[in-house]
Amino acid sequence: MVDVTINGQPAQAAEGTSLFDCAESLGIQVPTSCRKQGKCKECIVEVAEGIEGLSAPTEQERHLKGNFRLSCQARVLADESVCPTSGTYAFVCQSSKGAVGTVVRCHTMRRANMRIERHAFGLPLGRQAALEPAVTRAGDRILIDGEEIARATGPIHGIAMDLGTTTIVLRLFDLASGEQIADTSFENPQRFGGSDVMARISYDGEHRGLLMRTLAGYLTRAIEELPVDPRSIYEMLVVGNSTMRDLFFGQSVYSIGQNPYRSITEIEMAAGKRTTTSLASTGRRCLLPIHPRARVYGAPIISGHVGADAAACMLAVDIAHEDRLIAVMDIGTNTELILGNRHRILAASCPAGPAFEGGAIACGMPALDGAIEDVALSSDGAFHLGVIGGIAAQGICGSGLVDLMSELLRTGRMNSMGRFENDGQRITVDAANDIFFLEGDVNELAQAKGANVAGLQVVCNAYGIDFDEIDVFYLAGGFGRHLKVAASRRIGLIPNLPDSRIVQVGNAAIEGACIALLSRSRRRELEELVTRVEHCRLETHPSFFDYFVEGCQFKAVETANRGNPCVE
Ligand code: FES
Repeated sequence: MVDVTINGQPAQAAEGTSLFDCAESLGIQVPTSCRKQGKCKECIVEVAEGIEGLSAPTEQERHLKGNFRLSCQARVLADESVCPTSGTYAFVCQSSKGAVGTVVRCHTMRRANMRIERHAFGLPLGRQAALEPAVTRAGDRILIDGEEIARATGPIHGIAMDLGTTTIVLRLFDLASGEQIADTSFENPQRFGGSDVMARISYDGEHRGLLMRTLAGYLTRAIEELPVDPRSIYEMLVVGNSTMRDLFFGQSVYSIGQNPYRSITEIEMAAGKRTTTSLASTGRRCLLPIHPRARVYGAPIISGHVGADAAACMLAVDIAHEDRLIAVMDIGTNTELILGNRHRILAASCPAGPAFEGGAIACGMPALDGAIEDVALSSDGAFHLGVIGGIAAQGICGSGLVDLMSELLRTGRMNSMGRFENDGQRITVDAANDIFFLEGDVNELAQAKGANVAGLQVVCNAYGIDFDEIDVFYLAGGFGRHLKVAASRRIGLIPNLPDSRIVQVGNAAIEGACIALLSRSRRRELEELVTRVEHCRLETHPSFFDYFVEGCQFKAVETANRGNPCVE
């Protein structure tokens, strides 16, 4: 028998048992549309430990790289089996933490306990949109923008979706009353195609359509679990960065990965082939179980990598009616920045990479149970840690990394250049659980931070303002929501503004998506708003590199330099 742990649940599996069967025996639902035939490609698992203890990848798994396997194809080997990849016996496979033994540890692409930001907070409440959805009913006729698409007597529903590179959030509404009925969230299963948008673009080039089909399978399951008949869902409004949105709609994303980084919709609009960058399709074409003639609307993007999620944030913060100067910063693998008010709006996107989501960090991990999220250092040098779920620490998530660096900086154990005291290379954070922090990790985080700060410098610079002229600084997104503001200021991740001007708003993108779903006039406002935004191209700004180098240092960010336009 072999020890197998799936999604943190331990089991004993006999030789030849597939990981899929093993998961089923634990009551874990693995997505599938082909009943373990190796055809649907939905049953992917990520193997964190003991991949050598599994059978060799099959022909059906050719599209998967690294530690990803199809759970219906990967079978556990007996202790005495020869490992096909390493040529060693499985029972001597070395685990990542140095232990020896036959242990396979993996998780499905839908981990139930990931902390995903579903809500928004602290947004302006001044102007509530009247309920005027695109979907209406006249007797038994169901209409979209006045055009009949179905005949039915039951309720009419709609879904707003924030389709992120890492996480996906859905909210279900009764369109007749505007009431939210349910919400759900899960990790984006496209992770097997890489953690950032550039990797996904390249993956889609090699395996066209596979990312879209995999996502559709997961969405189908999520929609079927909602407490309404899926066929009563007549509209779905989708926001997401340009790559995620276009992949979902089956568009080619090749051009988003090539300089000058434009969505195919932007290129077509520039050529006069379309009048908006928004997209529309149907439930059937998007392979979803909603009404086949339901409209699936992809909100317009701003430009380049500044996508429909950033556009939705603008709606949520009501920038079109804002007199104050506001900034919105959504920190992620791709950080989006918006700066302006009703008179002028600038936007930019910074390729910060996955470090602040725990990627590329030795003991980094997403915000799952077991992730260290709070760090305090006492005067005797002892670490005091807060762990999500209150269980033994398994790694450090983004907000924990910010805390950790802030505390190391405060106590002099790390200097502003990111060097550890006494030329050390490694700091033990939790000896009992073998959690440590490397100087190499600091370099990764410095670069992610440098990209964010440089982006902000360039945008403020193009606007002709200093940071201290920003009246409200919205920190959007799940990571921004859980950051400690003081720690973020100390390491220079956000500008040195007083607490009263910093608002952690959570998932503003899903809030904007809901507004656009429930109000046609606000949707029109969104369409008009994106055309007014000046896109600030960081890569062409003459001072970007200087700002980046400066931003890699761990010190408070005080002022921006005015001047040098970089907008188009
Ligand atoms: S269950 Fe369909 S590929 Fe594994």
